[in-house]
Amino acid sequence: LADPGFSRAVIDWQRAHGRHALPWQNTRDAYRIWLSEIMLQQTQVSAVLGYYTRFLERFPTVAALAEAPVEDVMTYWAGLGYYTRARNLHACARRVVAEYGGVFPSDPALLADLPGIGRSTAAAISAFSSGTRAAILDGNVKRVFARVFGIDQYPGLKPVEDALWRRAEALLPLEEGIESYTQGLMDLGATLCTRSKPDCARCPLQARCVAYATGRTAELPIRKPK
Ligand code: ADE
Ligand code: SF4
Repeated sequence: LADPGFSRAVIDWQRAHGRHALPWQNTRDAYRIWLSEIMLQQTQVSAVLGYYTRFLERFPTVAALAEAPVEDVMTYWAGLGYYTRARNLHACARRVVAEYGGVFPSDPALLADLPGIGRSTAAAISAFSSGTRAAILDGNVKRVFARVFGIDQYPGLKPVEDALWRRAEALLPLEEGIESYTQGLMDLGATLCTRSKPDCARCPLQARCVAYATGRTAELPIRKPK
């Protein structure tokens, strides 16, 4: 499953064509990175930007967030949707203060035990905040992998998802560049390998993409069986 050219292609593309000036980039502050990853879980970058800035002005540290009443948190979240995220955010801040002295752990397994942080979000937070080599597999990345590897089963099935996680881990860069690689996979899924009309002409994975080679980008990933 290993393929060193895969991460090299993603990293080089990210450095040349990916997004570099988002407000949660160019920092190693785990609090700011965590907040961005939770806001971005079911919401596009353009919708998150204003909320992110206002939220950080009101709650500049994890301690400030933990001390605030949950109602204040809900007020600053109002309009972003998926409100369970805001309740979990507040609960998570309280646990980081109570259990870790206000410092987010860098181990993705410890992060994934906190409210609202799943395996993929934990990996993204630890990659961006401490350069930890951990695999992500969010909805966008599942779509990219399903196309590149020509996975002809619905990726929501447990055994299919397990196989995708194994591929995601095998494809991690060995030496440097986990931050660019992680951001690059996210940006590829969000900007080139979109659900409809992927821009394969500009894609760094075109040469190794089964869906492109076989003209099946419209069929992959397989939709949820009824
Ligand atoms: N979606 C999830 N995480 C993201 C990030 N760090 N940058 C852009 N989009 C994202
Ligand atoms: Fe997606 Fe097209 Fe790139 Fe394949 S070649 S990964 S379908 S954008």
